[in-house]
Amino acid sequence: MLHRFDLKNKVVLLTGGAGLYGRGLTADLACANATVVIASRDRAAGEAVAEEERRAGYDVSAEVLDQGDPDSIGALRDRIAQRYGRLDGLVNNAVSRPMIGPDAPIEAWEESLRVNATGVYCIHREFGGLLSIQKSGSIVNIGSIQGMIGPSRNLYGEQTGVPLGAPDYFFHKGGLINLTRYYAALYGPESVRVNCLSPGGFLADQPDEFVRRYSEQTFLGRMGGKSDLGGAVVFLLSDASRYITGVNLPIDGGYTAR
Ligand SMILES: NC(=O)c1ccc[n+]([C@@H]2O[C@H](COP(=O)([O-])OP(=O)(O)OC[C@H]3O[C@@H](n4cnc5c(N)ncnc54)[C@H](O)[C@@H]3O)[C@@H](O)[C@H]2O)c1
Repeated sequence: MLHRFDLKNKVVLLTGGAGLYGRGLTADLACANATVVIASRDRAAGEAVAEEERRAGYDVSAEVLDQGDPDSIGALRDRIAQRYGRLDGLVNNAVSRPMIGPDAPIEAWEESLRVNATGVYCIHREFGGLLSIQKSGSIVNIGSIQGMIGPSRNLYGEQTGVPLGAPDYFFHKGGLINLTRYYAALYGPESVRVNCLSPGGFLADQPDEFVRRYSEQTFLGRMGGKSDLGGAVVFLLSDASRYITGVNLPIDGGYTAR
């Protein structure tokens, strides 16, 4: 039955494909034989990733997308429809983080919601519409455990040197989980599935004390990495998950299961 996991002949759009989690997702989708289109505001970064994957023999191209601009979203939908005549998978992975801390200006909050809330709505409307007409497809929203729970006071603060974070993130990531259920209901009759994955923290350049404390709060004793998300994304895009929709699956080493 392993062929059901294969993304061969599937066109998949991944937003933010050059970022921390996005880079690993691009590689995993390409490896699963998908025709991958990555899209973000940064043309040069996207092109560099696509070029690297093409050199390894994979079918990856880069497009420009400003998720804060409905015209940019509509234009990308048109280009994909024109070039491929279809879309089989959409991974909403891009995120904008303009808000720094709880006292950031209102403009930063509004900018965040323009991209992370209004933009996510427009993406579902435009690309979900395309999939509905086709009567097939799978949308995977990348949420966060910070859409499921509040920040641990044991992790953020002077003792670790990592600040508590900004409130917009908890707002739009929480909303994304229930938005997923809404679109699963809306598009279900058209055989379009919509699911959410909620990853935990990605090991990057955090202070040692933060990494130690964070790791202790997971059952698996570590933070996430670039190969941790792709398996679930490939599964949810593939025919192997054809009866799964409306789900939120934490990918967090057990962080939220405690
Ligand atoms: N990094 C983590 O620890 C972590 C933890 C849990 C969940 N997540 C989630 O995983 C996803 C990826 O996070 P990451 O840390 O890899 O992000 P990142 O900051 O490394 O990359 C974000 C990507 O989004 C793109 N982007 C930003 N604004 C955009 C816009 N207006 N239009 C189009 N593209 C835009 C950027 O160009 C970049 O490619 C996000 O949804 C994030 O919330 C991340």
